[in-house]
Amino acid sequence: MASFLELQQVVKGYPSSPQPVLNDVDLQIELGERLVILGNSGAGKTTLLSLLGLILRADQGRILIAGEDAQQWTEKERALWRNRSLGYVFQDFGLIPELNLEDNVNLPLRIAGVRPSKWQGRELLQRVGLDGREHSYPKELSGGEVQRVAVARALVGSPHLVLADEPTGNLQRNQGEEIGHLFLELQQELGFSLVVATHNERLVSVLQAQPLWLYDGRLHLKNGEETVCGED
Ligand SMILES: Nc1ncnc2c1ncn2[C@@H]1O[C@H](COP(=O)(O)OP(=O)(O)O)[C@@H](O)[C@H]1O
Ligand SMILES: [Mg+2]
Repeated sequence: MASFLELQQVVKGYPSSPQPVLNDVDLQIELGERLVILGNSGAGKTTLLSLLGLILRADQGRILIAGEDAQQWTEKERALWRNRSLGYVFQDFGLIPELNLEDNVNLPLRIAGVRPSKWQGRELLQRVGLDGREHSYPKELSGGEVQRVAVARALVGSPHLVLADEPTGNLQRNQGEEIGHLFLELQQELGFSLVVATHNERLVSVLQAQPLWLYDGRLHLKNGEETVCGED
């Protein structure tokens, strides 16, 4: 059976740089799998997540979703898949300061043209430990709490794939670990595939995830660099 998501010999560069950032990347992700992509700054983690989320197109190679080549899809088809299947969590949280927490969580549904039920955002806020805070605004929360809201927002459309780009990068150590534990609980409960890009190796054990190291434009099963990856 085809994998949930597969990259085959993917190459991706930017016009401004002579070398491709990703050069011949192969990756298979099954539904319900947890992966942690480790790599130093500039290694290409964000580029890789953008390809997995059909935000960027590869220069070469294939990106298969349930066996279908998404490289061949139109922009409209790719946007539809993102709306239906993708949740994304950013390092800098990306909440809208002018919206209260409930409206922030429900925003992806509004963008997708789905009217949120009154309870959707509230239930998710409750689930991430922010019960009764739906009318608060992002500036009234700690960094760890804001990231919890961002996790709730990523889950509001019941995605099959959740991508998290350095989700603990702007958090203190204990808050970062709490976010890791929250991701693990929610992933085990809801069964989506989870790909976390980070340079925080502790997330591998917190998430009980398969680690892959990104360097020299490729994914590796081991860290081949002299430098030990530090904390976020
Ligand atoms: N939009 C862009 N235009 C040009 N170069 C980019 C762009 N985005 C990323 N890069 C370059 O690609 C390389 C990998 O970036 P990125 O994927 O953001 O790595 P990471 O997330 O691991 O820090 C870096 O050298 C970066 O400068
Ligand atoms: Mg990045």
